[in-house]
Amino acid sequence: MIPGIPALPYSAHSSERTGCTPDTEWFRTAVFYEVLLRAYADSNGDGFGDFPGLSSRLDYLAWLGVDAIWIPPFYPSPLRDGGYDIADYTAVDPRYGTLDDFDALVEAAHARGIRVVIDLVLNHTSDAHPWFQASRTDPDGPYGNFYVWADDDRGYDQTRIIFVDTEDSNWSFDEVRGQYYWHRFFSHQPDLNYDEPAVFEAVADLIRFWAERGVDGFRLDAIPYLIEREGTNCENLPGTHDIIARIRALLDAEYPGVITIAEANQMPEEVVEFFGTEERPECTMCFHFPIMPRIYLSLREGSPRSIRQVLAETPSIPAHGQWGTFLRNHDELTLEMVSDEERALMYGWYAPEPRMRANVGIRRRLASLLGDSRAEIELAHALLLSLPGSPCLYYGDEVLMGENIWLADRDAVRTPMQWDSSANMGFSAVSDASRLSLPLIEAEGYAQRNVADALADPASFLHTLRGMLAVRRQHPVLGTGDFELIDAGDERILAYLRRGKDSGTDADAAAGRPAGEVLVCVANLADEAVAGRLSVGEWDASAVRPLLSVGEGARAVSSSLGEDGALEIALPARGFQWFAVERALA
Ligand code: NOJ
Repeated sequence: MIPGIPALPYSAHSSERTGCTPDTEWFRTAVFYEVLLRAYADSNGDGFGDFPGLSSRLDYLAWLGVDAIWIPPFYPSPLRDGGYDIADYTAVDPRYGTLDDFDALVEAAHARGIRVVIDLVLNHTSDAHPWFQASRTDPDGPYGNFYVWADDDRGYDQTRIIFVDTEDSNWSFDEVRGQYYWHRFFSHQPDLNYDEPAVFEAVADLIRFWAERGVDGFRLDAIPYLIEREGTNCENLPGTHDIIARIRALLDAEYPGVITIAEANQMPEEVVEFFGTEERPECTMCFHFPIMPRIYLSLREGSPRSIRQVLAETPSIPAHGQWGTFLRNHDELTLEMVSDEERALMYGWYAPEPRMRANVGIRRRLASLLGDSRAEIELAHALLLSLPGSPCLYYGDEVLMGENIWLADRDAVRTPMQWDSSANMGFSAVSDASRLSLPLIEAEGYAQRNVADALADPASFLHTLRGMLAVRRQHPVLGTGDFELIDAGDERILAYLRRGKDSGTDADAAAGRPAGEVLVCVANLADEAVAGRLSVGEWDASAVRPLLSVGEGARAVSSSLGEDGALEIALPARGFQWFAVERALA
């Protein structure tokens, strides 16, 4: 189907329900890939990406080394918030295909060992949802209490506004009901009222609906805001945690192994609460929002200072949990989690034009943010793939797609996937380009950024990334291991150990190999060459082996053994390397 992608030999898997291996710990070593259905591949020439289109590209994703896809909302929607405004939770928007097409996608993904995670938007619905229509027209009916209604707009006044570009209140007046309704996001997205027990029952049913169809996980959108209480900021309230724990309990009882991923854009000490506890688990994974902007900040500061700081502030998490990490996603690069000073610096560095900004963040893509610097793009990925957590890539970043800042809001970073240099970049056969779900990027040189050209060029970033993913797959310790920052003798180098938790085999012991795998990761955030020296504790620095043979920044690193047994390293500007430690000290 895709020139250059061989048909891969897939084996049948054994799990009855999902078709994937029944491994319930898969998410720890998985590389996720966020794919916007609307923008990925259009199979029927109507200008909209769809499920059959995505199914036809699964071989590409398997070739790249993706373990799981996360698909943002594909439900019927007025599309006033990219589909996060849902009008029907148990159907597929006809523009994306049918429920049968969804089932076929799940089956085809599982046949390739790729898991499927979908978005669950529990905080709010679209105002077009029949629940809201019933609620506003029939206050005494079964849906009358499904939303948060009030006679005035003065309640919960300590609550911040999230979409500061478009909203000036969290309340809007509904002419039909003659009352105000509460909304944390756009005014067309009324918040559900979890103080009404029937709401949880309705939500439980739709979770069952999709779990029954074989999904492997749910991303829980906007999860901190489920419950409102007077005198609070209406975030992370105990009642909200109760609901998430009930969702986990439902899944554990009925669909064990189906994961939940929290979208909570907060500092680590708050987010960590969304893992729950061993006794009362909440989410399987939580996105680590604060580390993301600090990767970009560190590149411009030429120092990993802020990464070190946020890692130090990151509490340990319960055994069932795993962080999720990312460099970009379908939203603005949020700057909510950096200080005012850092934000000002980052706007200056990364969003010099006002129209590059959105809400509290930047609506640009990875490659253009980093000025198309191959060295910086590789370094950012080397960090993403080796810091604690399971990484999530964003479609198109692997071929260095740019943004279209002339589109409204976050559509700037949601343009059609660029597959080749044919009409509509191979995304759609629609003859009238004005019918594309979003216009293509028209910046100079954009047409060269496509999958076909990248596949044909062994030196492309696409091939480098694939090589990194392959190394990560061979070393599961990068997903499962402990993390420990180590001193590299130069502040500009971020150095850390990833250490296996397993006790090692008898053969390891006989060969003097450390119990469990040990990797040393080093990264030079500076834009100049630096030298460092590191001690690798009880392991033998003479027995380290570089793992990454891809990427200029990795190939140019040299290492040698110092007189005192320390590892001497020389890193080029933005250089990085992962070393396997093969032997413990005698
Ligand atoms: C979080 C989603 O990531 C974002 O795209 C959306 O606008 C808000 N939730 C509101 O639904």
